[in-house]
Amino acid sequence: MVAFFQPKVLAGRRVLVTAGPTFEPIDPVRGITNHSSGKMGFAIARAAQEAGAQVTLVAGPVHLPTPRGVVRLDVQTAQQMHDTVLPAAPGHDVFVATAAVADWRPAASAQQKIKKQGDRRVPTLELTENPDILAAVARLPSPPYCVGFAAESENLLAHASEKRVRKNVPLIVGNVGPATFGRDHNALVLVDADGHREIPTADKLTLARALVRDIAGRLDSSRP
Ligand code: CTP
Ligand code: CA
Repeated sequence: MVAFFQPKVLAGRRVLVTAGPTFEPIDPVRGITNHSSGKMGFAIARAAQEAGAQVTLVAGPVHLPTPRGVVRLDVQTAQQMHDTVLPAAPGHDVFVATAAVADWRPAASAQQKIKKQGDRRVPTLELTENPDILAAVARLPSPPYCVGFAAESENLLAHASEKRVRKNVPLIVGNVGPATFGRDHNALVLVDADGHREIPTADKLTLARALVRDIAGRLDSSRP
């Protein structure tokens, strides 16, 4: 019901969102992942859809219901997320990268389950770096308006602004306070070229709606 009354600030816009963790297989039964719940990305997808946008949500392995009216593409690995997002991105006006993409994956994933060795030798894992999806989208010839999220455990503002510049995106959003994976309430800080502003503590859907309104305002002032 509340959704019905959301102002259609993104009418006619197309929004692409990544959400959740990625899962990087070690062998058929094990892998590397993280505690991202996907809740923030799903809330942003829902808020953008309520605001009138056509929304594509590329989701890592999470068990969350797809927001109504949102096109969802499920992936497992960072490479699959990259290969799904990159061709889709040019058709979108906004890209919001909330996914907690695994920075590294096993250099080789074993075809069969790795068994314990008789001599109790412990296997070593060689890792290789995953592609940076947000930075790759920002490098496209005419990229959508790119919004990154910064997962930090310290020095939020400094790290967020460094990430903004390094990934060459106009806006980075940070979670204020301790690690928020799975939590339902937190505050956000929005870092752009001019400085930063806070969206005060609220539940994730309220934060998502406020962020969507903020992004819509940025689109209106930067493009026709
Ligand atoms: N991101 C991405 N692809 C990656 C890594 C990160 O698209 N391979 C995106 C995230 O979705 C997020 C932003 O980049 O929007 C910042 O992610 P974060 O993990 O905070 O930054 P990193 O550049 O990976 O640096 P670090 O983990 O060392 O802080
Ligand atoms: Ca990272």
